Amino acid sequence: MRLVLLGPPGAGKGTQSRRLQNTYNILQLSTGDMLRAEVSSGSELGRKVAEIMDAGKLVSDELIIKMISRRIELDDCKNGFILDGFPRTTPQAEALDKVLSEKNMRLDHVIELMADDEAMVKRITGRYSCTNCGAGYHDAYQQPNNAGTCDKCGGTDFIRRADDTAETVRSRLLAYHKQTAPIVTYYGEKGMLKSIDGMADIDEVTKKLKEIIG
Ligand code: AP5
Repeated sequence: MRLVLLGPPGAGKGTQSRRLQNTYNILQLSTGDMLRAEVSSGSELGRKVAEIMDAGKLVSDELIIKMISRRIELDDCKNGFILDGFPRTTPQAEALDKVLSEKNMRLDHVIELMADDEAMVKRITGRYSCTNCGAGYHDAYQQPNNAGTCDKCGGTDFIRRADDTAETVRSRLLAYHKQTAPIVTYYGEKGMLKSIDGMADIDEVTKKLKEIIG
């Protein structure tokens, strides 16, 4: 099973991908997480990428396409994957079609999570995650059962993303509308797109996704 989850920053792509990967035994591939790993490595490339991400702009198509093409060839993708945050531009969508057809693969579903910009600023600026296991939480919408302790691993250290300030979120939303929204049309014209309401609560969105995926 190969899926693409589309949607603006904060729409719930990461939250839902983490749930779906367990249900369907397929891997979440988040280009944002891959780039953050590069930044954490302290490499020269990581320093350049950090500047772009902190400004809320998109990293070059060339780099991202190379990164994903290599990643989907690895053994742990054999059962399938969920692309979270990729493709994000028309050249990336075209490159994905090419790479998949060269590998005799195809996408099963492209699903858009529709969401309102202002609500996304609130979602993102309230988001944090467990430093140890990466489990995601939110100041208002998704708190740990015991305040200050991760439900999944018991960790007590949490982190917020450097690009989760209100100002950067607004730049990321602009980039989404300008550069990513056209690929919603791209997949729509191919008859591959399904759209669902990303403003519904988290469990409801998961339910709708599962109805589409089957
Ligand atoms: P990336 O990491 O992909 O960030 P993003 O697309 O901006 O999306 P987010 O991770 O912020 O949001 P999400 O939709 O996953 O929401 P989440 O589930 O966390 O990219 C970061 C940067 O990397 C980009 O700006 C760019 O620079 C670069 N980059 C990455 N990919 C690239 C590419 N392909 N090309 C070029 N550059 C690239 O949810 C948010 C919060 O809301 C959470 O706290 C969650 O608990 C809560 N929440 C989720 N769903 C709901 C709900 N239904 N109701 C209430 N709360 C909810």
